[in-house]
Amino acid sequence: MSPYNNNLKYSDITSKVDFLNRRQLIAGASAVGIFSSLSKSVQADILKYKKTEYKVDAEVTSKSDATSFNNFYEFGTGKNDPKNNSSMMKIKPWSVEIDGLVDKPGNYNLDDLLSGISLEERIYRFRCVEAWSMVVPWIGFSLSEIFKKVGIRSNAKYVAFQTLYRPSEMVGIGSNPRFPWPYVEGLRLDEAINPLTMIATGMYGESLPNQNGAPLRLVVPWKYGFKSIKSIVKITLTDTQPETTWNKLAPKEYGFYSNVNPNVDHPRWSQARERVIGGSIFKLGTPLFNGSKRDTPMFNGYGKEVANLYSGMDLRKYY
Ligand code: MTE
Repeated sequence: MSPYNNNLKYSDITSKVDFLNRRQLIAGASAVGIFSSLSKSVQADILKYKKTEYKVDAEVTSKSDATSFNNFYEFGTGKNDPKNNSSMMKIKPWSVEIDGLVDKPGNYNLDDLLSGISLEERIYRFRCVEAWSMVVPWIGFSLSEIFKKVGIRSNAKYVAFQTLYRPSEMVGIGSNPRFPWPYVEGLRLDEAINPLTMIATGMYGESLPNQNGAPLRLVVPWKYGFKSIKSIVKITLTDTQPETTWNKLAPKEYGFYSNVNPNVDHPRWSQARERVIGGSIFKLGTPLFNGSKRDTPMFNGYGKEVANLYSGMDLRKYY
């Protein structure tokens, strides 16, 4: 991962309010038969969910920014590649294999896996290791809801996650053959069952777009964004620390824990501050060179909820 990407075209910047207005316009237009196919795709995936109890004291990033400035290397390494290239990914049907130290292992059809779990909106800070940040209104639930369904054995200590590997639908896989596909991530079990750790199935009131990890992804708001693995097809409960993609690629740069920490710099750049994507009224050019800067808080501002998980660790060190 590089902190900078100069290849961005960024002319389509729309605020959330503009976006909603545009939707109303589209819905109105469809009543008279104009734009009807567009309106169908926009209206089909509105979700039912509880309003948020998780908020942050910061402006929510526009939907347009959060869905066009992405990291999803299976579709290319450019920031707008995921939006441009991910429509080929087939997300129906979808199943998640859950195995390892669980009482009810199996290949769960997504609808069965999610049945009975209620969705809620959670507005979280999202801090990428590349020193940019967003504020995203996710829709989903605590990962522990899934564990309640499958039952965790008492000797489980870690959780491993795996992304879909389907080269025919993911152009970035073929163009980056040395990358150790499939993308894998992991958490310690106590991190995984922390209520903040979320499985998202939607954002901005709608189902997740493919580029953001449809149909389900992890969101761990106190860790760097690469821990938040997308388009999950496998979850394994294990007693050994799982391998993680970025740690395999560059162990000195991306640790297993990778908690957001302004006091431990990345070997190639500082982590003390971050660029808030779209956080400026002057929204021209590339997001990385726009927006305001802010100090990065320890644990991305979630220290009250999670600092106790790391009580034995020296927070001035890299993990
Ligand atoms: N998951 C997969 N499968 N592949 C990826 O390349 N990139 C990670 C993470 N999850 C990635 C992934 C990184 S580096 C970040 S910062 C976030 O996804 C970006 O999430 P977003 O595009 O929804 O902002």
